[in-house]
This record gives sequence, C-alpha cells and structure tokens, in this order.
Amino acid sequence: MDRAATSVKSLKIELSKVKDDSLLIGFFKEKVSLSSELKKLDNEHGNIMGSCIKNNNFKGEKGEVKNVFINKNVKNIVLVGLGEEKKYNFDVLSNTIADASKKLRDNGTESFGIYSESFKNSKLNDEELVEKIALSALMGLYKFNEYKTKDKDEVKNIREITIIANSNKNFENQIKYASIVADAVSKTRDLVNTPPNAATPAYVADYAKGLAKISNLKCTVFDEKQIEKMKMGCFIGVAQGSINRPRLVVLEYYGTDKNQKPIAIVGKGITFDSGGLNVKPYPYILNMKDDKGGAVAAMHIIEACSKLKLNINLIVVTPLCENMIDAASYRPDDVLTAYNKMTVEIRNTDAEGRLVLADALAYAAEQKPQAIIDIATLTGASMIVLGYVGTPFLSTDEKVAEKIKNASKKSLEKVWELPLWSEYEESIKSDVADVKHISDDGDAGVIIGATFLKNFVNDIPWAHIDIGTTVWSKVDKGVLTKGATGATVRLMMEMLREWK
Ligand code: BES
Ligand code: MN
Ligand code: ZN
Repeated sequence: MDRAATSVKSLKIELSKVKDDSLLIGFFKEKVSLSSELKKLDNEHGNIMGSCIKNNNFKGEKGEVKNVFINKNVKNIVLVGLGEEKKYNFDVLSNTIADASKKLRDNGTESFGIYSESFKNSKLNDEELVEKIALSALMGLYKFNEYKTKDKDEVKNIREITIIANSNKNFENQIKYASIVADAVSKTRDLVNTPPNAATPAYVADYAKGLAKISNLKCTVFDEKQIEKMKMGCFIGVAQGSINRPRLVVLEYYGTDKNQKPIAIVGKGITFDSGGLNVKPYPYILNMKDDKGGAVAAMHIIEACSKLKLNINLIVVTPLCENMIDAASYRPDDVLTAYNKMTVEIRNTDAEGRLVLADALAYAAEQKPQAIIDIATLTGASMIVLGYVGTPFLSTDEKVAEKIKNASKKSLEKVWELPLWSEYEESIKSDVADVKHISDDGDAGVIIGATFLKNFVNDIPWAHIDIGTTVWSKVDKGVLTKGATGATVRLMMEMLREWK
C-alpha cells in the first residue's frame, strides 16, 4: 500500500534559528507566559506572541490551537493549549500533539517543528517525552485513501517533523522505536481497513509472506488440505461455508537463544463475519471486515519486534477464514472436534471466533511457549463492559496480567482485567459434547468467551484480549482516525520490549 512517509528527527538548536513551515509551542492554562527562550524568539518577531497572550487571544485551554503568521525563519508559530498543569499527563500530551498535527496537515503545512520543552512537565522524562511526541504525531496523521480515485493529488501529507530538544541527548533510539511502532500501527490499520472482497484469507496469507521476506521472519502457510489433515475440526467447520478457502499462517522470530521458549501470540483472522447461518442483521453486519483485526495486529507486532531486534523469541499463529452462508456452512447443533480432540457443540454460528481460536490456541500450546496471548475481536459484549475507551482482558496467570497492565500504562492503550471465576464454567456444559461454545443466557459475554478458550491452552500461562469494540473508531480525534485503530500494537510492543 502506498503511504507517503513522514520522517521524524530530533535537533538541538536555538529556537530563533529554527527554519520551518510551523513551530508548535505548548502552554499550560495557569501560566500562559513566555520563558526567556520564547521571549528571545518573540523579540525577533515583533513580540507578536506576547501581544497575542496579553490581548487574551490565547488562553492555553486544552485543545486550543492558535496560529500566528510571522513569515520569518518560521512562517507560523502555533500556540497549543495544554489545559491545567495538574491534569496534564501522557494522554493529554499524546492527543494534543496528534490533533495539532492533523490541523497543520489539513492547512497544507508540509513540515513543522515541535518545541518539546514546552510540552514537558515534572512527571515526564526527556526520553519518554520525545518518543511519545513522535508516536502521537505519526498516529494522528494516519489516513486511508487507498480506494479513492478522485482528487488523489490533493491528498495532503506532512513530509517531516522536527522535535526541537533542549538537551544534548541523542534521541535516536526513541525516534526509531516510535517510527517502527507507528509504522506497525499504520500497516495494521491499512490491512484491517482493506475491504473483504480484496482482503481474503489467501490475500492476507500472501501479505504475511511478504512481511516475512522483508523482515527476516520464518513464515509457514498451511492451506485448507493441510488444515484438514491436521484435524483442526473447529477451524474447518467455520471455514467450510466460504468460497474463499482458509489459511493458517505461522510466523516465527528468533531474537535470542533458540533454546529459550518463545512467547506465542494468536490472532483471530475472520476476513468477513456475516454471522453464518445465524446471519447478522443490518446494520450489525457492517464493518465485519474488522474481524481480522487480531490477526493483522499480531503480524505487524512480530514484524516490529524483528525490526527492533528485541531479545525474545516470538511465534505468531493466525487462523484466517471467512464466516459465510452457503449450502456447505456449519450449523447450530453440529458437533465439531477440535485440534486437541475436545468435542464442541455449536449453538450459534456467529460465535465463530472462539472456534477458530480453539484450534489455533491448541496448536500454539503444542509448541510449548512460555506464555500465550490471544488478540481477538471476539464479542460485541466488550462494548457493554468498557465502551470504546478501553479493552477488556482476562488471564490465567498473574505475572502475564501484570505485564499487560504495565504495558497499558506505558502505551496509553487502556485495558481492564475481568475475572475467570470457575462458576462461569457451569454455563458452557453441553448435554451432547464435552463443551458448548456459548451459554444459553448470553450473560457475561466477554468472560464466557474466555472461559471457553481456556479449554485449549493446556495450562500454559495465557491471556485473552477482546478488541471487539476497540478495533474500530467512529471518530477522527487525537491519535485515532476513523476506521481501524491498530488496537494492541502499541500495548504488545511495550510489553515485549520489557519482557523478562
Ligand atoms: N466478530 C464478532 C464480535 C463483534 C461484534 C465485534 C460486533 C465487533 C462488533 C463475533 O464473531 C460475534 O459475532 N460474536 C457474537 C457472539 C455471540 C453469538 C455469543 C456477539 O458478540 O454477538
Ligand atoms: Mn461472529
Ligand atoms: Zn467474529
């Protein structure tokens, strides 16, 4: 996919020497005044900032962006409100930088500088600050134009962002990390946004092969015959109603001693979820191309790990298929035999995600990883739990849960843990098979999904992340743009970069 790249660099330079289209400067509400460095800059520009502040044309309110045209070394000085300092944190920083970047891009700006010192407060260290500024700007600037044929040459783009740093430190590592992770988020968004007639299981598998080639990953693609031969009965059951045949993609990255157990990430890859015979009514059937969000995120997470040369071994397993209506479709009442030989009574063909994951998790468990984390657009019920704000997760292992929570704080991707109490197991007991895949009452939907999946991980420390809601954004705001969000990419990268 063609996406014009935005490059980011950091530079230690006196403010008045900066040459750029625009220069972003942040101000807290309580102290909208000029530091000595800003005063110096302002003196050389006819005190235009100072008078703007004095005349109350700019108050430093959160979200306020005031453009001052000066047409000198810097064409525009952009005053950015940060709101109250005591409420300031990485979330505010991140969304403010992203929103201001979008505004500049839409104004036709081609390059701009960010005076990082003005976005700092006592809670944030220099390294984190530069990394978050870079990642937030790049995420906010994302757009998906692949399927627009008109006005393509009018698509606006920021060519370069310069982070003006006050310190002599070299921020190369932070900018590298931010650029690689932002790229993984953008590529995840691109592929999740790609319509289901294009992004079929075969297409996504070929895409994975392409990633593996350029990023030095081992890639194995199993086709339908091989999946059948492996007796992945649940996966085949879901896949059998579609003309677009399934694929199982396994990607491997070795960044440390091969004898060290890998971490496994399993991603749900339903390229379109019609619901099957339990068809989804309009409008719930819309957007169901996003049902591959877990698989696509996992693929780009492993690619980013390889680019960053992290000292871990990682294996990614993604079952890719389509859930469709056909004479060959699986049905409610069918009993399917999973890869681990458990029999599963089917009650609703729209609960297909947990079936493809059952086999993929059992396959991952067989590789004896130190932990398994699955990422899945598993339930609409995730909306009821946390809305669009955060992502519910569940885990059988306190240490893994702790790692996810720590990564959440660092990555700004909000997650919340739900319990896996044994009482929930009652409601998926089956009269005819070992287990059924849903409960009769539909209560506690997110937890019931995880309770079913737990049967397939064979006591390996495991976590399940349900991105049913957070995979998609309805708004173009802050680091989000309308459409696919790239959910879990930042979260998993923060977890993996510190994995011990
Ligand atoms: N992919 C959906 C979950 C989903 C629904 C994600 C809406 C985002 C928005 C999943 O396959 C599904 O259909 N789940 C059912 C499960 C139910 C039948 C137990 C659901 O959540 O309604
Ligand atoms: Mn479904
Ligand atoms: Zn689904």
